[in-house]
Amino acid sequence: MMSALWIAACSLLLLSSSSGVEGIGVNYGMIANNLPSPDKVIALYRSRNITDVRLFHPNTTVLAALQGSGLGVVLGTLNEDLARLASDASFAASWVQSYVQPFAGAVRFRYVAAGNEVIPGDLAAYVLPAMRNLESALHAAGIAGVPVTTAVSTSVLGSSYPPSQGAFSEAALPTVGPIASFLASRSTPLLVNVYPYFAYAADPSSVQLDYALLEPASAAAVTDGGVAYTNMFDAIVDAVHAALDRVAGAQGQEGVEVVVSETGWPSGGGGAGASVGNAAAYVNNVVRHVGSGRGTPRRPGKALEAFIFAMFNENEKPEGVEQHFGLFQPDMTEVYHVDFTAAGSSS
Ligand SMILES: *[C@@H]1O[C@H](CO)[C@@H](O)[C@H](O)[C@H]1NC(C)=O
Ligand SMILES: *[C@@H]1O[C@H](CO)[C@@H](O)[C@H](O)[C@H]1NC(C)=O
Repeated sequence: MMSALWIAACSLLLLSSSSGVEGIGVNYGMIANNLPSPDKVIALYRSRNITDVRLFHPNTTVLAALQGSGLGVVLGTLNEDLARLASDASFAASWVQSYVQPFAGAVRFRYVAAGNEVIPGDLAAYVLPAMRNLESALHAAGIAGVPVTTAVSTSVLGSSYPPSQGAFSEAALPTVGPIASFLASRSTPLLVNVYPYFAYAADPSSVQLDYALLEPASAAAVTDGGVAYTNMFDAIVDAVHAALDRVAGAQGQEGVEVVVSETGWPSGGGGAGASVGNAAAYVNNVVRHVGSGRGTPRRPGKALEAFIFAMFNENEKPEGVEQHFGLFQPDMTEVYHVDFTAAGSSS
């Protein structure tokens, strides 16, 4: 009892004294057998001035370590739980009662995300019903202000170039359209995983590396509706914005905003362009770009939020570049340096 009160008091103090600018978070992936304990990991986030964390699935040890940390938390569900979350309201209620309610006083939840990268696909139809059941369960538990959304990959797009022509694919539209409408009516963003790296690696001879790396000196690769795109990150994000605006326009709604739930660059693993130097350049450029608050050409001046993938190199992911997206080695030494204070300054 004493300690619960103490934690609650601490977290109030942290929340009220927090002047950190929301903007850059880091994904806490756990597909590894050699990671530090969650309390050490959360301390590492704080010591590096990382303000937000995304969890792919709930874990009560991790949530306990987040109590009083002041970090903003995006909490995902396992994809394997989507069918049950969609069909069984009592399962959604117990999910909220296990993972959100006990921590809500001392953990600053930002979003609950139903599933990751399942649209289009066999699980896609479960996403919106799962979102509805989770929202009802949160409301029933008296937890206000934690919106429910989902995370998609850019495979939801059928067209993405030039960015203003962004549109959802025929395979994705039947599920992502109604989800966009749900999000629009609540002013909740869609989470989108954005990887210029994979576009570059698929075709390194025709994609300019500087454009993929957001290098400031990169020449504009495309001029679209009078706007010049000088980096692929903005081009991808705006293609998703355009697809969302298309759906919203058809329904007389405002366009949905995007939170970049994953972006990163591998520091090794043998892929084209996978190097420590390129990874350091990409991630530091993203932090500065997002931190500038300039937004993207389609949403100028509208600060974007992004989560870097990922905190650690994960040794149980598939071999190759997938094991090399970490900012840190499992022993908590840096793979390369990232200056997260740049997220709060304008450049
Ligand atoms: C974190 O922010 C504090 C306060 O602005 C600063 O003194 C410290 O150097 C920063 N730490 C890192 C690792 O950037
Ligand atoms: C939660 O995370 C801890 C620390 O990494 C791990 O030991 C534990 O197995 C996880 N629990 C579940 C249910 O996955």
